[in-house]
Amino acid sequence: MKKVLWIASLLLLPLTMNVQAAGGYSIELESADNNLRDQASLKRGAVLFSNYCMACHSLKYMRYNRVARDLGWTDEEVISEMAHGLNTVTENVMTRMEDGVSRAVLGSDAPDLSLMARLKGDDYIYTFLRSYHQDDQGKWDNKALKGTAMPNVLEGIERHATPEEYAEVARDITNFLAYAGEPSKLQRLDLGWKVIAFLLVLLLLLYLLKREYWRDIKH
Ligand code: HEC
Repeated sequence: MKKVLWIASLLLLPLTMNVQAAGGYSIELESADNNLRDQASLKRGAVLFSNYCMACHSLKYMRYNRVARDLGWTDEEVISEMAHGLNTVTENVMTRMEDGVSRAVLGSDAPDLSLMARLKGDDYIYTFLRSYHQDDQGKWDNKALKGTAMPNVLEGIERHATPEEYAEVARDITNFLAYAGEPSKLQRLDLGWKVIAFLLVLLLLLYLLKREYWRDIKH
């Protein structure tokens, strides 16, 4: 019994560890509260991503036709909404920036964002997009990534929006990046329940079968 308890506590150990501490963020992350089932939010996020992020960032593991299928667009719609009619649906979602320009102009490459939400978490991206601030000299910085090479590209939206509207913009972009990080997450979650239900039914059947086998045996 002691052994079983030992093993159980070892298995539970990762759950009790503070993930944020492991990530080493110096600021409190805000909850993104995004919802992958909210297709309207994902569509808004995709359009915002195309207009405000793709000048520098790519989603090199995503293809336009996959985005269309998952977000409920036709092939023509995804190209007009996200690529201004310039790409074909079988192309990957690549940045419009030439190689090396970001490094030359901003001093740093803009990373591919396909897996950024998986790497840093949805809450981090949401917080990062909401953490730009100006110092006394008017210089922009970001509390989540101090001294970042990325300019405050959403400044125009933020200036003309209410805090709630801007929170929604950040949430929609975060939602889209969370989707891009694992496009089949919803299928996985939905399938998971079915598999567990199947295993429970199987368990019941096997239990009844076992009882049937052992019924006439004295033990
Ligand atoms: C003008 C080019 C440019 C645009 C436009 C841009 N970024 Fe960036 N982004 C960068 C650069 C450069 C970096 C690397 C920053 C660094 O390492 O300091 C970066 C880094 C990031 C990171 C990683 C931050 C981290 O902690 O490492 C995220 C997330 C991100 N960008 C999201 C976005 C989103 C979302 C948009 C659109 C709203 C966007 N970016 C638009 C240039 C850009």
